[in-house]
Amino acid sequence: MATVLVPGGAGYIGTFTCRALLSAGHRAIAYDNLSTGHRELAQGELIVGDIRDGTLARSVLRENKVEAVIHFAACIEARESVANPAKFYENNVGGLIAFLNACRDTGVKAFVFSSSCATYGVPQYVPIDENHPQSPISPYGRTKLIGEWLLRDYAAAYGIRYAALRYFNAAGGDNDGRLGEWHQPESHLIPLAIEAAVSGRPLRIFGTNHPTPDGTCIRDYIHVEDLARAHVLAIERLLAGGPSLELNLGTGRGHSVREVVAAVGRVLGRQVPIVEVEAQPGDQPQLVANASRARDILGFVCRRPDLDDIVASAWAFLKTLPSRRAAGTT
Ligand SMILES: NC(=O)c1ccc[n+]([C@@H]2O[C@H](COP(=O)([O-])OP(=O)(O)OC[C@H]3O[C@@H](n4cnc5c(N)ncnc54)[C@H](O)[C@@H]3O)[C@@H](O)[C@H]2O)c1
Repeated sequence: MATVLVPGGAGYIGTFTCRALLSAGHRAIAYDNLSTGHRELAQGELIVGDIRDGTLARSVLRENKVEAVIHFAACIEARESVANPAKFYENNVGGLIAFLNACRDTGVKAFVFSSSCATYGVPQYVPIDENHPQSPISPYGRTKLIGEWLLRDYAAAYGIRYAALRYFNAAGGDNDGRLGEWHQPESHLIPLAIEAAVSGRPLRIFGTNHPTPDGTCIRDYIHVEDLARAHVLAIERLLAGGPSLELNLGTGRGHSVREVVAAVGRVLGRQVPIVEVEAQPGDQPQLVANASRARDILGFVCRRPDLDDIVASAWAFLKTLPSRRAAGTT
């Protein structure tokens, strides 16, 4: 059993990962400034704090004898990063440096970092493996790549071992509706399509002439519970003395926007109203992982790759939101 501090542990992927850590017998402490996270969804212990506050981070790491960190805390919206890069560099890079320094000073040895397929930029081939050149096209993607560079240098100089996990599209919730995805504002396709089906307000489909079979963008949706399990495997491997690693986390299978819309229609039993609009600059037609390295190194295989299952689990959570809001808990 290890004590794991989880910056960003009150956010979407963080809550699932804290729960997976607790189920695996570890102590999980979420450390979150609640800028986008939800206090009431945090699993286990929660310390309200900011990664940029090195003094607080050092005292939390020391007092709790933290051995390992799984770091989710970041600003996540790529489009917002184009309009407001300062916010992203300040939090995702400045915050990471401040927090890594606290980890170095308090002897943390294992560090899992939320990286992203956004570090690859325009795909030169698909599926994308970890050897694909990294040339991000948004400030957000660049902050994630800089994060990987920081970790590599800190590992070489200070002996912190790390796993940089490059997620494709995290999606889904748990079946009983206790945890799930609710970003405000939401930018992810599955919750947006569900919202459109429920509200009747059309979902905007950006671009229908992409070079894909149905003309809409293809993404690799990985169930958040699978993603959380991969984090536990990665941290346990590092704690057991395994070397640093960089891994894709995806299913290896892509789904187009139209396929997602159809799945939401099937699962909710309601049509998703759509409106087709111009493609956005920088939209990649296809981002799909080659996920074989995670299987070979961590023995990680997705247990919930089915798109309808992912949508159904997302809906199980989203339909609880009106009552959560009415109760003032979200
Ligand atoms: N959701 C995806 O599909 C996806 C894909 C690739 C990478 N990622 C990365 O995974 C991580 C988690 O994403 P998510 O979807 O759970 O996002 P999220 O916004 O739900 O979670 C981020 C959490 O970090 C907290 N946070 C932000 N800045 C902080 C700070 N300075 N100090 C302390 N806490 C802070 C927020 O309050 C929030 O709880 C992010 O780093 C994101 O870039 C997500």
